[in-house]
Amino acid sequence: MGKLRLGFVGCGNIANTKHLPNLAKFPDRAEVVAFCDVIEQKAIDTKNKFGTPDAKVFTDYRDLLKMDLDAVYVCTPNRSHSEITVAALRAGCHVMCEKPMAINSEEAKAMVDAARETGKLLTIGYQNRFREDTLTLKQMAEDGFLGEVYMAKAHALRRRGIPTWGVFTNKYEQGGGPLIDIGTHALDITLWIMNNYKPVSVLGSTYNVLGTTLRGAEQGTSSHWDPDTYEVEDSAFGFVKFENGATVFLESSWALNTVEQKQAMTTVYGTKAGASMEFPVGEASSTKKRLVVNTVVGGKQVVFEPDVRETVPDSQDLIFNYPGAEKECKVWLDALEGKGEVVVKPEEAFVVTQILEAIYKSAETGKAVYL
Ligand SMILES: NC(=O)c1ccc[n+]([C@@H]2O[C@H](COP(=O)([O-])OP(=O)(O)OC[C@H]3O[C@@H](n4cnc5c(N)ncnc54)[C@H](O)[C@@H]3O)[C@@H](O)[C@H]2O)c1
Repeated sequence: MGKLRLGFVGCGNIANTKHLPNLAKFPDRAEVVAFCDVIEQKAIDTKNKFGTPDAKVFTDYRDLLKMDLDAVYVCTPNRSHSEITVAALRAGCHVMCEKPMAINSEEAKAMVDAARETGKLLTIGYQNRFREDTLTLKQMAEDGFLGEVYMAKAHALRRRGIPTWGVFTNKYEQGGGPLIDIGTHALDITLWIMNNYKPVSVLGSTYNVLGTTLRGAEQGTSSHWDPDTYEVEDSAFGFVKFENGATVFLESSWALNTVEQKQAMTTVYGTKAGASMEFPVGEASSTKKRLVVNTVVGGKQVVFEPDVRETVPDSQDLIFNYPGAEKECKVWLDALEGKGEVVVKPEEAFVVTQILEAIYKSAETGKAVYL
């Protein structure tokens, strides 16, 4: 088999800091031959850094899709995920689309349908599934060690961490704030570990308090956001009930008066054992997560910590270090080469999208949403 021929739509932060540096670790398996960005210079710069010498540059993704490509990466703001993904699938490409899947469940469903109809692979960039702590907890759940998980908390809390590049605070482009941006990761790993994709009702609240009243630069933080252009919620909370009686509490914020900054983490409560993802005391480092498990052994309560250290170097940078991303890349290449399954299935990401949408709707109407 020759090298996989890949194309990128959207040549910003996530393309340049997650996907492309990890793909570069597998030069014998894949090459990036097409780059598209509405800002041409970004496509040119990215091509010069990561592309083959004869890679093509485009400003319209429809032109990129005329090339003979195996797979397309969709790394644009959330609004265009569905449109570009559906077009790429229908053009005969497999698709790795960044999270969140789409800005609403209707658009997410169009993606699921297009993948089913074309028989092409579709996955979503939930790299947190591939972290050591997440994989270990998933294995414990599958081994039956936790028993049945009937309650969980999905954590996505930042104290002052509003993204200041791109269009993250633009409601039209992103569909929302921290809930759709980072709540999506926490909910994804939580549902995956519970293996529960049957939500029945959702209650939610969103707040826009600190984002529009504080100026980032005055908060002793490097997140210098502008309150005048801040359009999305700064925190959102949801309570989800499932068909089998299980519940999930989801907490998400980019700005909240809290010291508990847990992001892309979960706490699960099972009939046989419970577990929580934690940071080392006094440290909020993206790669040094702990997994604290509690159960009863020999009639005694026991707490233990499996060794879940990441093998990737720790950059201390919570935003631009993506533990799990190299494995995400490898698993995707395996699937493209027909050597393995896609781990993040579109139907699962669809349910995550449905729940996030229901939290926004419930917050708006003040009522529970029944799915
Ligand atoms: N997996 C993660 O942890 C993670 C982290 C950060 C961002 N993301 C996701 O990645 C996506 C992009 O975020 P980012 O941080 O790279 O933003 P960014 O603003 O740095 O990059 C987006 C790029 O897309 C380009 N673009 C916009 N519309 C386009 C279109 N129609 N066609 C071609 N190019 C277009 C922009 O010019 C920009 O260069 C978002 O959906 C975001 O949620 C995921």
